[in-house]
Amino acid sequence: MAEITTPRGTKDILPGEVSGWQRVEQVFRQVCGSYGYQELRTPIFEHTELFSRGIGEGTDIVEKEMYTFTDKGGRSLTLRPEGTAPVVRSFLEHRMYGDPEPTKLYYLGPMFRYERPQTGRYRQFHQFGAELLGVVDPLGDVELIIMVMDFYRVLGLHDCTLTINSIGCRECRSVYIEELLSFLSNRLEGFCPDCRRRYAQNPLRVLDCKEQGCKQELAQAPLIKDYLCPECKEHFAQVLALLDDLKEDYVVNPFLVRGFDYYTRTVFEISSGLLGSQDAVGGGGRYDGLVAEMGGPSTPAVGFAAGMERVLLVLEKCGTQISIPPVCQVYLAVTGGELRAPACKTLFGLRRLGISTEMAYETRGMKGQFKSANRLGARFVIVYGESEYQQGKVTLKDMTTGKECLVDEACLFDEVQKRL
Ligand code: HAM
Repeated sequence: MAEITTPRGTKDILPGEVSGWQRVEQVFRQVCGSYGYQELRTPIFEHTELFSRGIGEGTDIVEKEMYTFTDKGGRSLTLRPEGTAPVVRSFLEHRMYGDPEPTKLYYLGPMFRYERPQTGRYRQFHQFGAELLGVVDPLGDVELIIMVMDFYRVLGLHDCTLTINSIGCRECRSVYIEELLSFLSNRLEGFCPDCRRRYAQNPLRVLDCKEQGCKQELAQAPLIKDYLCPECKEHFAQVLALLDDLKEDYVVNPFLVRGFDYYTRTVFEISSGLLGSQDAVGGGGRYDGLVAEMGGPSTPAVGFAAGMERVLLVLEKCGTQISIPPVCQVYLAVTGGELRAPACKTLFGLRRLGISTEMAYETRGMKGQFKSANRLGARFVIVYGESEYQQGKVTLKDMTTGKECLVDEACLFDEVQKRL
């Protein structure tokens, strides 16, 4: 029978890797907590309409990449490809907009996109992200940007570049799109087939095509910064000024547009020079129109998400050791079958004190038990031997120094705690 493996684009996170994941998650929770964000957990699948309306019908994600299925009740459901639309749905469903203070939420978990798998790009991947709802001030954009950059810094992720742009509001952008379309219409033959399709469906996406030929064609293209309305121009200037004040380095890239229809004004991406073509470790932006489009009261919002697998890849490339091997603090070695009962009491007693303790599941020779203790990296071995036990004692061996001593079993827990 053929071996059943993980589906293409997915992978197991093996026990040796999990501690690295937990460390990154812990740092993320800590950083979010200090910025006043609270965790929100939304379902893995949502009504398909949430994403087609939220992300936009003409986007690559909605057109080509969603895992959509019909359930037994005939509903069209989709495995979430991103976290922003679900957060907005939850914000509306639970009337969070009624709160007097801005809503500050973070999330982490698996996302699903039917993309061509390669290093750093998977079909099931994990994001952690944060959304700030109810703040129109540029300080909101900057808070999110600095928060994600702080998170990378705490992890020790260096060599990250913050790229930023403003794509304006619906009004000024539509004027710009007209200009862009007329520019593109005269030279469409020079663009790749994907860009020719984008020209008809989502012309802004032509701007961030990675094809060299398209990049050359775009050299003379009109730039959105020249079409921003006074309010959008002022907003962007303030975002950049605040970043300057806070000494956060950035690069303004007038071609950065990102792949979601919900963005307005600020968009940003963080990339790492240590990754290959899939170099974005995070990205986000402002989406002032989305809450109203989903049927809620007009609510400005801004957010970002970062990719867990890519962050871990960069850490690995930097040589940062973040996986912590499991610790076995105490190993119980038992000589005779009848001593297993008191040893078992010690086994569970030490574990309940939070001391990681192991013992062989079946009766084995002493040599084999010490071999296991060494393999597990045990700090101490407690030997239950017949003659010592008759006097109420056990042997406590320090595996780093090799020294051993007899200890009254009644004082064993205190003795172990004292020495650890
Ligand atoms: P995004 O740029 O599509 O934005 O994804 C954010 C990050 O998720 C990327 O920078 C990348 O690190 C990671 N990522 C995306 N696709 C994959 C994949 N197939 N495999 C591995 N990692 C991947 C969003 O999802 C927006 N919801 C961000 C946002 C939040 N905007 C406002 N609020």
